[in-house]
Amino acid sequence: MAEALDPKDTCVLVTGGAGFIGSHTVIELLQAGYEVVVVDDLSNASIIALDRIRQIVGDEAAARLTFYEDNILDRDAMNRIFAAHAVDRVIHFAGFKAVGESVKKPVEYYHNNIEGTLTLVDVMRQHGCKSIIFSSSSTVYGDPDKLPLTEESPKKTCTNPYGWTKWMIEQILTDIHAADPEWDVVLLRYFNPIGAHPSGLIGEDPKGIPNNLVPYVAQVAVGKLPAVQVFGDDYPTPDGTGVRDYIHVVDLAKGHVSALAWMNGKTGVEVFNLGTGTGSSVLDVIKAFSKACDKELPYVVKPRRGGDIAANWCDASKAEREMGWKAQYDLDDMCRDSWNWQSHNPNGFEG
Ligand code: UD1
Repeated sequence: MAEALDPKDTCVLVTGGAGFIGSHTVIELLQAGYEVVVVDDLSNASIIALDRIRQIVGDEAAARLTFYEDNILDRDAMNRIFAAHAVDRVIHFAGFKAVGESVKKPVEYYHNNIEGTLTLVDVMRQHGCKSIIFSSSSTVYGDPDKLPLTEESPKKTCTNPYGWTKWMIEQILTDIHAADPEWDVVLLRYFNPIGAHPSGLIGEDPKGIPNNLVPYVAQVAVGKLPAVQVFGDDYPTPDGTGVRDYIHVVDLAKGHVSALAWMNGKTGVEVFNLGTGTGSSVLDVIKAFSKACDKELPYVVKPRRGGDIAANWCDASKAEREMGWKAQYDLDDMCRDSWNWQSHNPNGFEG
């Protein structure tokens, strides 16, 4: 059984801690007093994110941060890291995450995400660490029969290998707990994380042309792309465009700190939705971002994108009831902070 520990006595290993959600979570962990070890191979993240984290939290908290540029598939490296640090809990973000790319490269996606997780949990148990928070996604709910989505809503068919890796890793971690009840597993199902740290120092930095809506809108706002493409305006939604539950990445990051405090000493498998409980359409997002950047952003309506669903949003009341966590920011706040990041860093971390 995992012991209940004070944050100052807890070492949290964060895989993928230099990435978008990971870096925001590392800030919240350091500010809450945890010791943090980040493992990231920087395949889709920048070393500059680590410098910015240190700058945001200040010297005293930054002294509790250690960074390893390693891949979780590298068993020797992971063994060395676990030998060097008495890791109490793991927050597991590391993984490939581009939906379209996953359709073209299923072998790479299954190998990296599934085998990476298996290596991680095997090394964890060898070192007596059986406590993990996994970065899952609302994609495991597939095309919902009923909204809002609660944690009891059925897991359904995913539309791409990326989504299936989330689905399967949830199952793998659940089976690991069934075989060894000393494990504690928290599956956090994120809705659509956007926004950036209010400091404007870290944010989402997609390589190439963004696939996701808000990074795309942000690049239109900054003049790097001509117009937003709205994928379909004939969905059965109020304005015909897709509806999602967008959540500020800082709220999401804080959800991990709440989950750590909540799981402290418990064993079991628990699922939490992390969203705001509010659905916004593609046009709502374009409107809110136009307000944030103070110019009308042009858009063109295109056909629906393959694999997209009409709408999803969550019932986030379980996280509030059990962990005392509730999203604080609204869509205007998210767009303001995305714009602040994008306008100060038009080329992401590269300047
Ligand atoms: C996708 C993934 C989800 C993943 C998430 C990561 C699927 C089906 N979806 O969510 O698993 O966790 O990314 O953030 O696997 N849109 C446009 N124009 C654009 C881009 C998007 O109109 O240029 C629309 C989409 O049709 C959708 C909404 O904007 O209605 C949000 O899209 P996006 O940001 O890509 O996220 P999801 O597809 O919801």
